[in-house]
Amino acid sequence: AKIPSVVNEEVKSYAPGTPERTELLETYKKMYNEVIEVPQYIGSEEIFSGVKKEIRPPHDHQKVVGYYHEGTQSDVQKAIETALEARKSWANMAWEDRAAIFLKAADLIAGPYRAKINAATMIGQSKNAMQAEIDSACELIDFLRFNVKFMTEIYADQPISSPGVWNKVEYRPLEGFTFAITPFNFTAIAGNLPSCMALMGNVVVWKPSDKQVYSAQVTMEVFKKAGLPDGVINMVLGDPAETATTCISHPDFAGLHFTGSTHVFKHLWKQIGNNVDIHKTYPRVVGETGGKDFVMVHKSACPTEVAVGLVRGAFEYQGQKCSAASRAYIPSNLWPEVEKQVKEMLATIKVGSPEDFSNFVTAVIDGNSFKKITGFIDRAKASTEAEIIAGGTYDDSVGYFIAPTVIVTTNPTYESMTDEIFGPVLSIYVYDEDKYEETLQLVDETSAYALTGSIFSQDRAAVEVAYKALENAAGNFYINDKPTGAVVGQQPFGGARASGTNDKAGSAMNLLRWVSVRTVKETL
Ligand code: SER
Repeated sequence: AKIPSVVNEEVKSYAPGTPERTELLETYKKMYNEVIEVPQYIGSEEIFSGVKKEIRPPHDHQKVVGYYHEGTQSDVQKAIETALEARKSWANMAWEDRAAIFLKAADLIAGPYRAKINAATMIGQSKNAMQAEIDSACELIDFLRFNVKFMTEIYADQPISSPGVWNKVEYRPLEGFTFAITPFNFTAIAGNLPSCMALMGNVVVWKPSDKQVYSAQVTMEVFKKAGLPDGVINMVLGDPAETATTCISHPDFAGLHFTGSTHVFKHLWKQIGNNVDIHKTYPRVVGETGGKDFVMVHKSACPTEVAVGLVRGAFEYQGQKCSAASRAYIPSNLWPEVEKQVKEMLATIKVGSPEDFSNFVTAVIDGNSFKKITGFIDRAKASTEAEIIAGGTYDDSVGYFIAPTVIVTTNPTYESMTDEIFGPVLSIYVYDEDKYEETLQLVDETSAYALTGSIFSQDRAAVEVAYKALENAAGNFYINDKPTGAVVGQQPFGGARASGTNDKAGSAMNLLRWVSVRTVKETL
């Protein structure tokens, strides 16, 4: 079969007067006033355990919009057994049939489910409409469609044969079941991790973040509606650490696909190592684990481009992207103008509920995040090494709102320059414009992470110097652009060091981790 040619899904504008705006707002309001119940999905069953946990919008934490039904470890065992049973037919299904299901899922999200999945992401994860659209609609659609393209390219790659000898490689799924642990901050990542493994013929136990269950349910609904056979992806909602232990301790555990914190990933890696003797095969371990992403600016850069890159990179989705601009290094000659423009832009930014489409910043995900982020702000207020030049205010009386905050520090190793904050806080170090190379070294050495980073410069030679000096400091390196917003099929995404295994989501490199290849030689 030939798959349709694939292009990136077009981002809808949601501008006033557009039909998509009216539909999204109506869907949002309708869903906001319902109370949903999210079950676990195991095989053909929807399991309503009766142990109900509230789902509250981060921007309106007194409101209950639904409940999810918490699972137990026997549910996880059942999910594993159900997955292994489903594997018998799924692993042997023609790839065209697997592809058709996920292409159909993409079409459902692009069409009838677009407003619903975007509204779920706005309500459950407090994304504004545009951030929801680029995530739960466009990026998820792109993952689903491009993964099919990558799969066909992988399958087409065959060894040569010679006279009397016929050679082939079979891209088999892993033997056993795979396990996906996904984060709250991208509905697209949450949908991609289990579905890309399933596309390659694997069966999956999927544990979404308990802060993303609202949109995770819509994702499951779409997969089912697209014809995904029962048991191929099983969504469980038990305790995360226990769920991981149950999966990792199973002899048929074949791989972990993880996006989340470095700390948890390291812990899981050790657990997997400790269980290596009981596993039938060495499990694949793929993780994307956060960042402390930099914006490095050369004295030749355009101050307006820098200011726009900083504001968008640091504050879109409240800075809760692993790719968010979090530490910036600005040369002294540009600082007065960059400071002025950043302050002017921030003065026009509105903070509030996503229901009002003019709000650029909404709430951070929960009380724990609020506490952690405001801790950085409070300590900066008290520090002699730091000054808050914008924002610095917060209020959790209705929702977890934090004003976009800019900390300027005289110490390049001050905590806001080195630690992942995961919130709307940008940390800036102003360097002597003639100390470019020394500052590049600081960028490389002062953080353990290496996910994304930007260099702004109009001087090509300076770009080349940064390109070399920062070769290991970012898996995604952007020249004259913000460090967020990788597009599937255009910028394969992922980083090394403490940021992960760098297996590039949205690429054939990632899908290759989910196959176990059999080489066949036949002598004719
Ligand atoms: N892929 C997202 C970005 O590039 C982060 O996960 O912003």
